[in-house]
Amino acid sequence: MADPRAAAIILAAGKGTRMKSHLPKVLHPIAGRPMIGHVLASLAPLGCAPIVVVVGPGMEAVSKAVAPNRTALQAEQLGTGHAALAAKAALGQREGDVLILYGDTPFISTETFEALLARRRAEDRPAAVVLGMRPGDPTGYGRLLVDGKGQLEAIVEHRDATAEERRIGLCNSGVMAVEGALLWDLLGEVGNDNAKGEYYLTDIVALARRRGRLAAAIEAPAEELVGINSRAELAAAEALLQDRLRARAMEGGATLIDPASVWFSFDTRLGCDVVIGPHVVFGPGVEVADGVIIRSFCDLEGARIEAGAEIGPFARLRPGSIIGPKAKVGNFVETKNTTLAAGAKANHLTYLGDTRVGEKTNVGAGTITCNYDGFGKYRTEIGAGAFIGSNSALVAPVTVGDGAIIAAGSVITQDVAADALAVGRGRQVEKSGWARLFREKKQASKQSRS
Ligand code: UD1
Ligand code: MG
Repeated sequence: MADPRAAAIILAAGKGTRMKSHLPKVLHPIAGRPMIGHVLASLAPLGCAPIVVVVGPGMEAVSKAVAPNRTALQAEQLGTGHAALAAKAALGQREGDVLILYGDTPFISTETFEALLARRRAEDRPAAVVLGMRPGDPTGYGRLLVDGKGQLEAIVEHRDATAEERRIGLCNSGVMAVEGALLWDLLGEVGNDNAKGEYYLTDIVALARRRGRLAAAIEAPAEELVGINSRAELAAAEALLQDRLRARAMEGGATLIDPASVWFSFDTRLGCDVVIGPHVVFGPGVEVADGVIIRSFCDLEGARIEAGAEIGPFARLRPGSIIGPKAKVGNFVETKNTTLAAGAKANHLTYLGDTRVGEKTNVGAGTITCNYDGFGKYRTEIGAGAFIGSNSALVAPVTVGDGAIIAAGSVITQDVAADALAVGRGRQVEKSGWARLFREKKQASKQSRS
């Protein structure tokens, strides 16, 4: 049975040669998410089923990244039309619309995809609707040939275009919505008698017209249609998205003291009255509640920071960090898979891994939780209201009870009871006058040698 829902084909089999990378192009991240993840995210609200990603040989990592969406293999890169046809077996015969898009064009909005589908469903029922754009420099793009009635007649690739056609500013972005029932027939008719010797997807427009069907174009803003082919374009796309994320953060009520030096992840969530200092980097999975202060030079990933907490400067929160309300994590402190309860503090030079720190506990400067023995990871549990003296090593697995005090410089290898004092260091020995005698002896032997 043909399925009347819209389906999507994402072309991603191109080698991405200009990236000069062992990583498939569509897996290069932008704001912490692979390029193709951005494409899937803006498609998601449309409920397309299925979505088939066309990949080339050796791109198993792409299949993994897009799962549970399906992938189809295009064994040889013979052109965009040939690539779309590679999705035939996975897609089957379709009744509904088929959206065809590229995996390396990550910023097309959901609204633009909706507009394409809406145009397809308009009364004149065009067999294909192409997304057009007007780039500053159209060199290299396919040109949209529109007739006097505003109908799309054909797409001509730059290399095949006449000088007159090259003067057309309206270009093919590469995205189109096609009538499912016609798609495979049209693609089957595409030949490769052209400048590149490739099977052009774009030829299906003229082929539909030849069958007496209409085709149409709509336009989208050029900034949505940024395609990525090189590292420089990747960096430009990153910059574009970062500017949007910074603007969104400020609109949401966060103060960014120097917006240009704050780097967000696609999924960073900020409450209001959050203050972020210069040079703060958010990796994926960070959630920040209201009233949090993040001072300069912090690096955060996979962390939840609760209301009124203070972080940094120079703090590193790694995945699994939960910083409780009004807790403090200061300079040169690293946390990993660690919870600080409300009002707990680790203000200086500390590593806390696989640890829970109870309410209002103070972790002194230079405290290290020794959570790894080269094989396994072990937990450190510290109760509420405890005090960990400076330069202590807590050798996990170990528990420090509520209200306990650890003497500075201790190496704690055994559990400490609530309200106890634990001292785990060499006892201080004092030998009166020893230093003076030592110096006298040394001076004497030096003089006898000279
Ligand atoms: C294509 C369009 C052109 C449009 C331009 C917009 C055609 C014939 N031309 O040209 O009209 O202006 O995009 O950027 O469609 N791909 C495969 N398998 C292949 C070839 C390509 O999967 O055999 C994928 C690539 O990975 C890429 C996309 O298709 O994601 C576009 O391929 P590319 O070679 O960049 O097409 P252009 O020549 O730029
Ligand atoms: Mg291209």
